[in-house]
Amino acid sequence: MQQPGAFINGERVHTEANVEVIDPSTGQPFATTPDCGPAEVEQAVEAATIAARSWRSVAVPERARLLRNIAALVERDRESLAQIEARQTGKPLKQARRDAEITARYFDFYASGVEMLYGSTIPLNNDTLVYTSWEPHGVTGHITPWNYPLQILARSIAPSLAMGNGCVLKPAEEAPLTALMMAELAVEAGIPAGLFNVVTGYGETAGAALTQHRGIGHLSFTGSVEVGKVISHAAAENVIPVTMELGGKSPNIVFADADLDRAVPVLVNAILQNAGQTCSAGARLLVEESIHDELVARLREVFAGVDIGPALTDPTLGPVISQQQLDRVMGYVEIAKDEASISYGGERLSGGSYGSGYFVQPTLIDQVDPASRLAQEEIFGPVLVTSTFKDADDAVRLANGTDYGLVAGVWTTNVSTAHRMIRDVVAGQVFVNTYGASGGVELPFGGFKRSGHGREKGFEGLRGFAQVKTAVVAL
Ligand code: NAI
Ligand code: MG
Repeated sequence: MQQPGAFINGERVHTEANVEVIDPSTGQPFATTPDCGPAEVEQAVEAATIAARSWRSVAVPERARLLRNIAALVERDRESLAQIEARQTGKPLKQARRDAEITARYFDFYASGVEMLYGSTIPLNNDTLVYTSWEPHGVTGHITPWNYPLQILARSIAPSLAMGNGCVLKPAEEAPLTALMMAELAVEAGIPAGLFNVVTGYGETAGAALTQHRGIGHLSFTGSVEVGKVISHAAAENVIPVTMELGGKSPNIVFADADLDRAVPVLVNAILQNAGQTCSAGARLLVEESIHDELVARLREVFAGVDIGPALTDPTLGPVISQQQLDRVMGYVEIAKDEASISYGGERLSGGSYGSGYFVQPTLIDQVDPASRLAQEEIFGPVLVTSTFKDADDAVRLANGTDYGLVAGVWTTNVSTAHRMIRDVVAGQVFVNTYGASGGVELPFGGFKRSGHGREKGFEGLRGFAQVKTAVVAL
């Protein structure tokens, strides 16, 4: 059984109590990590504070060079990172390999980004020179979930380091192993010890201690709305900025004139990728009435042919992350039995090659009332819910009819319809005749409404990790 320590000030730290890491493909534990609490968080924030004092004065080209070194090491270790990522999350190996590539890309992208991020001069009057510069927050706190541990780590750690901050990360207790590998790689890349620390353990203990710590200058959180609110309160106590990425119930809106040959494989991937445990999963299918029967029949056929299996056999669909998540998903299936029609799937798979892994069939729930919990709440499993619309106005009303607003997909061959939908659908990203950006490192990403606030990825994601200082000099 692997027992990697937490990573504080460049060293492995162990605690008496530990948290088991379970392989979702088998339901069996295969590693443990320390059950950290306030004491370890204290050490980590102190180490990051000291390291960040020097780091902020390291010239930008040198910071960028070290970030590029991290990218190169991630590429070097891509296969071992992918194997561990797949094992701890249950995601198909191909996806985990892609996640590792995207992780490297974040470090490369933000190395370039910080080199291109200039301040400005402001024309106030002829006798005054006014300019702006970017100041780091000091130490940034990062609370990440288990669905894309590598990618979500990279999208906030890379820009934070680039801007001259120190970092303390609390990865999800279900999947903390690749974060520990990343912290070690950063030191190997030449990042000073103490600048990037990983404190493992539970949200209620290690996570809460980190988010409440007075030494933290900025918090990034990706996870549930419920915990996002708790963390926002903690941030308010210390009057610090937060970036909140709280998931969604993102619609794919399919008009009767859509090219279904193009749409069907993308719609399937949008809900089955990572077993539906993707913040931007295409979790609602809104389909124009006249093509409903045809589209549902085609989706059912594809769902029936999906290969399902353990992560390391590289199936199309792996298990969900945990017993808890399995129970949650099956709870929604129970609701569907009463309220809607299960058009395909709806069963847990166990025994034989599935053993006691957390496998769920791809599931298609049809004729869902748009007001019901099935259409309103994030299920976070391989479960697609379908409702029909009459016309474009109806589609907009349904698309916007949840608390969320993260991503949307529009399928039409009519240019005006496409642009009207882009204008009217409330979402941080809108895709037309495609869905999802496969990492989308370059593309600003984040939510409207309860999907959160702040933008990660792209150039937008860099600016959040610093604050503007305005200098006014009389000549
Ligand atoms: P969660 O929001 O509880 O966990 C996310 C992270 O927050 C983990 O690192 C956890 O340890 C930490 N955390 C939990 N309580 C905390 C606290 N009081 N203070 C500080 N940190 C805390 O999500 P969970 O329980 O894993 O999943 C529940 C649901 O949340 C899922 O079914 C899904 O709907 C949603 N979710 C959304 C994600 C997204 O990508 N937006 C990712 C993970 C979950
Ligand atoms: Mg939770």
